[in-house]
Amino acid sequence: MQRLLAIESSCDETAACVMGMDGRVYSNIIASQIQTHALYGGVVPEIASRQHVEALPAVVAQAVEQAGCTLQEIDYFACTYGPGLSGALLCGVNYAKGLSYALGKPLLGVNHMEGHLMANHVSYPQLTPPYVCLLASGGHTMLLYVERFGQYHLLGETRDDAAGEAFDKAARALGLAYPGGPMIEKLAAEGDPKAYPFTRPRCENPLDFSFSGLKTAVINTLHRAEQRGERVKKADMAASFQAAAIDFLLTNAIQACKMLGVHTLSMAGGVCANGALRTEAQQRCNADNIVVYLPEKGFCTDNAVMIAEAARRRLAQGERSDGTLNADPSLTLPYWRKTIEKQM
Ligand code: KG4
Ligand code: ZN
Repeated sequence: MQRLLAIESSCDETAACVMGMDGRVYSNIIASQIQTHALYGGVVPEIASRQHVEALPAVVAQAVEQAGCTLQEIDYFACTYGPGLSGALLCGVNYAKGLSYALGKPLLGVNHMEGHLMANHVSYPQLTPPYVCLLASGGHTMLLYVERFGQYHLLGETRDDAAGEAFDKAARALGLAYPGGPMIEKLAAEGDPKAYPFTRPRCENPLDFSFSGLKTAVINTLHRAEQRGERVKKADMAASFQAAAIDFLLTNAIQACKMLGVHTLSMAGGVCANGALRTEAQQRCNADNIVVYLPEKGFCTDNAVMIAEAARRRLAQGERSDGTLNADPSLTLPYWRKTIEKQM
């Protein structure tokens, strides 16, 4: 069985995975930089790049060792080449290029967003297109109709902040550490989600999202309370913010399924690690006769397994990158928008 080695370095995780061309996961190594960036309240791009350079040799060596093979026995090399932080992407791209050149094995650049989309395919072989995918990460929030692998239709996207970004910014306003998502989730567990009735904004496209108003509402409520000398129960604020964000994400995702007559919803991205979102997704989808697929928690946030899965599929189709592969920080998914608008 042929094997590929995939590298992910688009943001603050240095990750590598060895996967069989049949989809079997042989190893999954992640070196997180979160503790370093938490000191600064967010990802510092220059520090991220330096840490990727330092971590890559050991992370790749561990991935190969855990897989019980040698680098010489790897048949293909893959890496995330965008979207993400330019310097961080360059680290993984150049490392993979170097390995491919030195060992004389083919190379493939992978779109990070397609990687997130593929996370559920690693765990659930029964998940087959067509389906609707809600992708909610720190940099993106999109609703896609996945017609088949590589054929994506954009149904809706955020007009401003990504969902994860809103969690991070609201957390910062509440004085919580980075990354904000898990911190808000923890604090929200002790709060009343109805304490602050944050409203859902209306977008011209009913499947679009907008999270900056919600973030601003949190900041303004905190400021007003401070000016009046009132005490804000932070747990209530976290719970109300989280409830509003979850409601927005799930209302649109379920609406998209209904509009298209699709009964399968796949969820992807770091925000999907949120326990309250997962529970509510299950409940609301059950009520609407929609089968929902939630990624294993370790496959929600950035990892190399999802990158390997996307790479494996494209390699099998004969796709290869050459030595000119470069980082593309603002790479988008190859999607179509108009077709689906006509259908709706
Ligand atoms: O997918 P991801 O690892 O990176 C990007 O590609 O952006 O997503 C990271 C985002 C961060 O904004 C983080 O706060 C959010 O996912 N996140 C969460 C949770 N865990 C991570 N948001 C809400 N609840 C969580 N438990
Ligand atoms: Zn990501």
